[in-house]
Formats: sequence, C-alpha cells, structure tokens
Amino acid sequence: MINTIKIAPSILAADFTRLGEHVREAEQAGADVIHIDVMDGRFVPNITMGPLIVEAVRRVTSLPLDVHLMIVEPDHLLEAFVKAGASRISVHWEVCPNLHRTLQTIRALGCEAGIAINPHTPALLLQEIIPMLSGVTVMTVNPGFGGQSFLPETLPKISAVRALFGERNADVVVDGGINETTAARVVAAGANVLVVGSMLFNNSYSVHVGFEKLRVSLNK
Ligand code: DX5
Ligand code: ZN
Repeated sequence: MINTIKIAPSILAADFTRLGEHVREAEQAGADVIHIDVMDGRFVPNITMGPLIVEAVRRVTSLPLDVHLMIVEPDHLLEAFVKAGASRISVHWEVCPNLHRTLQTIRALGCEAGIAINPHTPALLLQEIIPMLSGVTVMTVNPGFGGQSFLPETLPKISAVRALFGERNADVVVDGGINETTAARVVAAGANVLVVGSMLFNNSYSVHVGFEKLRVSLNK
C-alpha cells in the first residue's frame, strides 16, 4: 500500500506567511503531490490564489503540482496556470459547458487534464470523457473551504469512478475532510490520491507528525 497511495497536501491550510517552509516540510515528510486550490468567489463562495502562487510554489519544490480550479470560465486562464508550473489542471464538471474543448486545451498545453466533481454530480457523467483524463477528483465535501467534515455518501461514487477507469493506472483523488479516520475508508473505496489540508497543516502538531498519523491509519 505504501507505494500506491499518494498524499497530496493542500496548501489552502498552510500558513501563508511561511508558505515555502510549509511546502518544503510537506515534501520532506513524504508528500507525493502538492494540491493548490484556486477559488474565484463565483463558483465557490471564497477567493484564494492564482497563477502567482502556483509559480511561487513551483520554485520551492520539484513535486508535481495538482491545480484544482474552482472557478467559472477557466479556459482563458489555463495557459497562465500551465506557464506557472501546473503538472495537472483539474477543472470542475459543473462549470465547463464545452468540457471536451477545455480538456483538449489543457492537453495541448502539455499538461495533464483532470476533472473534479461536486458531491451532487454523478460519476456516470464522466463516462465519455474518461479517456482524456489522468485523474478524477471526487469532492468529499462541498468545495469552497478547508476544515469541513467528510461526506460519507460520496464513498460509493469513489468506487464508481475507479470502475470507470477500469484497468488504467489513473488517479482517483479524494478532496475534503480526509484525516486519520477517513483515509482508510476512501482507500478501501478505490481512491489512490488523498488531498489533505487541515489535518496536516495546523497548530496542534507538525506536518511530519500529521504524515505519521496518516501512515499509521493506512498501515503504511
Ligand atoms: C476544498 C478544497 C480542499 C481543501 C481540503 O474546497 O478543494 O482541497 O483544502 O481541506 P481539508 O483537508 O481541510 O478538508
Ligand atoms: Zn482541492
């Protein structure tokens, strides 16, 4: 299990006065991917970061950067995020009326393409588009904020997305409310990338200790 499950710390929960340190700490603790949450105050009721932060994170780590775009009309910003250093861009199914074109654009820019789906969005809606994706992010909370409680009703959807990929070695990413009690449940359902924000970046213990708690819960 240790080699197949990837941990993707979400910098949304990091201390932005020392973002570089927090990213380096996560990398040393064993992070596989850095997850960056972009919010626009329209698709979700919160505003966070843009290409500038992606570019800054790119300079302090060699890990892949998974950029989660929670924004309407993402098309005109795709190139900026790729230039800033995104390894994969995940757009939301709910805000992309020409999703095939959006994914084509991401891939033509030399970036991996992903889709994120909200708790109310069925996995089956991805069927035709699955071959274009290196991963699907199943939102296990409603997007917009860190620190929310995991929604257990999303568990069957994690398995449904895994089934859509069949034998392919693609990422089923879970995002929201992942901690030492929910990690094993999402992995059992078929997830292989765990986005973890507030459970890793908090004032109670270090990022290293957070990773250890997660590993113990996963028997890693
Ligand atoms: C929520 C974001 C998540 C968030 C997860 O909209 O997409 O990536 O950082 O945070 P936690 O792990 O605190 O639920
Ligand atoms: Zn996210």
